[in-house]
Amino acid sequence: MSNKTRWYKDSFVYQIYPRSFCDSNGDGIGDIQGIISKLDYIQDLGVKAIWLSPIYKSPNYDNGYDISDYRDISPEFGSLDDFKKLISEMHKRDLKLIMDLVVNHTSFEHEWFIKSKESTDNEFRDYYFWRKGRGKNGKKPPNNWTSRFGGSAWTYDEKTGEWYLHLFTKEQPDLNWDNPKVRKEVEDIVNFWLDLGVDGFRCDVITYISKAKDLPNGKWHPFVRGDEHFTHGPNIHTYLRELSKNGFSKKDTMIVGEGAGVNLEQALIYTNEENEELDNVFHFEHMETDFYKQVLPRKFKLTNLKKIFSRWQLGLFQKGWNSLYFENHDFPRSLKRFTGDYKDKRVEAAKMLAISLYMQQGTPYIYQGQEIGMTNYPFESIDDFQDVVVTNVRRVFGVFEPLFRPIILKVLKVRARDNARTPMQWDDSENAGFTKGTPWFLINPNYTEINTKNDLLNHDSILNFYKKLIKYRLNNEVIIKGYYQEYNSGNEDLHVYIRTYNGVTILVVCNYKNKEVSFNPHPETVNKNCNLVLHNYGYDRPVLEPMILRPYEALVYELNKTK
Ligand code: GLC
Ligand code: CA
Repeated sequence: MSNKTRWYKDSFVYQIYPRSFCDSNGDGIGDIQGIISKLDYIQDLGVKAIWLSPIYKSPNYDNGYDISDYRDISPEFGSLDDFKKLISEMHKRDLKLIMDLVVNHTSFEHEWFIKSKESTDNEFRDYYFWRKGRGKNGKKPPNNWTSRFGGSAWTYDEKTGEWYLHLFTKEQPDLNWDNPKVRKEVEDIVNFWLDLGVDGFRCDVITYISKAKDLPNGKWHPFVRGDEHFTHGPNIHTYLRELSKNGFSKKDTMIVGEGAGVNLEQALIYTNEENEELDNVFHFEHMETDFYKQVLPRKFKLTNLKKIFSRWQLGLFQKGWNSLYFENHDFPRSLKRFTGDYKDKRVEAAKMLAISLYMQQGTPYIYQGQEIGMTNYPFESIDDFQDVVVTNVRRVFGVFEPLFRPIILKVLKVRARDNARTPMQWDDSENAGFTKGTPWFLINPNYTEINTKNDLLNHDSILNFYKKLIKYRLNNEVIIKGYYQEYNSGNEDLHVYIRTYNGVTILVVCNYKNKEVSFNPHPETVNKNCNLVLHNYGYDRPVLEPMILRPYEALVYELNKTK
């Protein structure tokens, strides 16, 4: 058994997307010095760790998720010296650093891949998946798998007349983890960064690293094929345990896995402490309540979201560990998604969402800008998107793209990852205080109103509420260790639950709708001494009794407490 302290169980983690966080030198791109200049802001929030999206050397086909040198920093973000400074400044402030580890694939510009392409018998050939094509002359891809970003998962290479596998863009060839040399390389990379002082890793699409032997065809589906052969593949748990033994567990780390396709059953294996694989996983089930397969918009139903919450809260209780998130760099902003048309109630809605999510069990994550209620960008033209996924999708439509453009745009407006990638809104000066130069990407025009400067000044702001909530959560065992029980499960408007631990109970009541909703406390929770500890309207509900909740009203009561 490892001697981890498991500090992540009572810590908030703040995610930074470096390109869009803060630009220190006016080139329009966020950078490490920019992050350093905002560490006091982050510390002040009360979080205990930062997850940094990739800052390694990369040709940026997928904004850093395509790494060409795992031991160097991308010059646009700074240098290794800047990085060392970042770590020391963070540790000074008791902030831990979680690096993104992108090792399912490399960039096609990584030297391993460049060498691998050269011939069919070089020593790097087997670092990747090279296969002969099917059909006459091998001109059809080796199997029917699709890339997660649309189109075939294979690209033909003229030089050796073979195809290589990429579950993402063709600039992101998949590494062959069945090759022990590849696994050793990954271990070395992990240890390189641990030696530099990092405190953990967020493992990018880690559930895809083990592919089924012989790469068989996947079940037919119009646009997602092959999943069953590379999600939690045959050796996934063996490889993770090996990496943990030889890397992850050498320090008091937190390892979180991006759990594409993870269900509860798998999460229990990944996060069971005895298995020493991952400490928590990002599952996607709640992120699909409004998007089928994460892509096609569908009507959001609160009852579906609550069912998922309950299943994961109960399923992992004392057996594994959860992660709590509503936002990251791969999804649109959470407000519209889960609270609908909030109109002039943005602040109330954002606070309500925070209460609904963060009073649950698991490690809580906040994505940059979420703490001030940043919103989706008002995209009007398809050419305004920058994400490679958009380019890919358009390419897949081929000559029909112009015909389908209005529909594609409609979906992208609500689904595109670009929504979360607009620069951080620091103040109401030009470019939202993000840069003195020309920003690499569009800045949401609402920055004059939605920015950290305003929120810091306003006592009732979302930001100040986040601080209160973070502090409250971190000081409460019941939230960290307590049992979760949902009430009113069939109700489409309310999310109501209790957490219980050692004789202490907290009751959480959230109105997800922009309308008044009546609420009758469950008999088990009434007639007890109660103390209202968090609210988003004001301290005017001291007594827990039948009430008409205001739009998006959210309340947290401690029960059983003597006042
Ligand atoms: C993960 C990342 C995403 C990236 C993909 C490929 O899903 O979060 O941003 O595009 O992996 O690396
Ligand atoms: Ca810069």
